Amino acid sequence: MQDLRSTPSPGIDPTTASVARMYDYYLHGKDNFQIDRDAADRVAQAMPEIGLLALENRAFLRRSVRYMARQGIRQFLDIGSGLPTAGNTHEIAREITPDARVVYVDSDPVVRAHGSALLAADDRTTVALADMHRPREVLDHPETTRLIDFDEPVGVLMIAMIHFLTLEERGSVLGTLRDALAPGSYLSSTHVTTEGHAPEAVDQIEGVYATTPTPIYFRSKAEIAPFFEGFTPVDPGLVTIDQWNPESDEGDAPAEKIGTWLYGAVGHKA
Ligand SMILES: C[S@@+](CC[C@H](N)C(=O)[O-])C[C@H]1O[C@@H](n2cnc3c(N)ncnc32)[C@H](O)[C@@H]1O
Repeated sequence: MQDLRSTPSPGIDPTTASVARMYDYYLHGKDNFQIDRDAADRVAQAMPEIGLLALENRAFLRRSVRYMARQGIRQFLDIGSGLPTAGNTHEIAREITPDARVVYVDSDPVVRAHGSALLAADDRTTVALADMHRPREVLDHPETTRLIDFDEPVGVLMIAMIHFLTLEERGSVLGTLRDALAPGSYLSSTHVTTEGHAPEAVDQIEGVYATTPTPIYFRSKAEIAPFFEGFTPVDPGLVTIDQWNPESDEGDAPAEKIGTWLYGAVGHKA
């Protein structure tokens, strides 16, 4: 895999921080530029737990994929999947369902390049370059329709993604995705929260992300709940991620839990 510290690829903007590369830096990856590290360090000033939180967010992803696979989900649409890291969705799903199919969707060409290289030999996984803000682009992408049968239940992941949606687009983006899904489908998602945090810290982090193409919006639990409209949250409901079925960690969650910056839920479409 190419190390972006030394060799920027054509078409990749090293002058603007990218959320994919900032997140890679939080997870101690190598695929980031100085501008990403500077932005991430400004986030860390307001949220010193960010590294642990990113790990805990990944652990929530893994628990929720296992949950959905155990409910019989055989195909997953991972929207805003990020750069490949340990415990990717297809690896976790296949511990339970060996022939699970996974479409990774991301708007960042670096993610597509790395994902495509990693998954080249796997005909049940793919990467689609598409924009969550235009859900039909995600649903109708040829790579999506090649692997996902929308007549069957789908496990949709929007992990650490719905906080990039404005309130104005919440209904249209999530409604379009929900309406495309067969009964029995699931939505797994996490969202940053204002609750329990100093407004100055939240303002600082929102300010950093406002300098990227991907502004972020911290919200209260009551404001996050409507993002799951049309899905019934499975037990234990919408909770901080440290509280979401922690007993099913299966040893891969960080020993120290942070949780309180992120709410998460898995919703079921009846
Ligand atoms: C914070 S990372 C989350 C990665 C992964 N879901 C996780 O929780 O570990 C956000 C990812 O979403 C991608 N992204 C941001 N805006 C997007 C959009 N409008 N459409 C698709 N992907 C997007 C970024 O490129 C980045 O890879």
